[in-house]
Amino acid sequence: MFYFATKNEHKYNEVLTILKNYKEEYPTFNLEIKKVEINIPEEIESFNTYYDNAVKKAQYVYHHVFKPVIAEDSGLEIEQLLGFPGVATSKIFPKLTQEQKNQAFANMVSNLPMEFRKCRYVCRVVVLFDFSRYYSFEGVVEGFLSDVVIGSNGFGFDPIFLYPSMAMTFGQMDINVKCSISHRYIAFKKLFDFLREGSY
Ligand code: IMP
Repeated sequence: MFYFATKNEHKYNEVLTILKNYKEEYPTFNLEIKKVEINIPEEIESFNTYYDNAVKKAQYVYHHVFKPVIAEDSGLEIEQLLGFPGVATSKIFPKLTQEQKNQAFANMVSNLPMEFRKCRYVCRVVVLFDFSRYYSFEGVVEGFLSDVVIGSNGFGFDPIFLYPSMAMTFGQMDINVKCSISHRYIAFKKLFDFLREGSY
């Protein structure tokens, strides 16, 4: 059993969905993941890279549970803003609601052609077996900022993250669809392949 270091119920549900689908493909893969009930302090996630944030989160939780830990850090990167907000995604506009943040980004791109709206979600996952033995995997999915806020599924910036090949936002997608293409899916699939192959 691996503990999952997150405060975010949506991320936990997505990881469970990705794991469930993975097990359908590999029925002998018997990994169990459980969300850890530990309050992870904000300062643990204040580093400059997704990787450092995920490692520090995993190490913090490991100190409490002394069992293997999975942690992830993710963010939205807007190409024309040179990757902003990136690793700071959860911290921007702290006084705005998520709906207001989505509307602000949608307004920002409303007069821009698609080529100026390119963005991507990044997910960095770390599995930590003990304090100094850990491995990490990355997933990236490319998209465009939508000029309308649309869809009530998912979380965070999903209602403005337009996935071009399906012509819909992540907010319009069923969780099973998002969890078969997302940055989190790509990163966790790499992690599950690694654990299944057992070469660690
Ligand atoms: P953190 O990884 O907890 O620092 O949070 C990353 C932030 O990036 C979240 O609070 C969301 O705003 C955003 N984010 C990361 N992944 C997703 C996603 O799959 N959907 C929507 N927003 C996301």
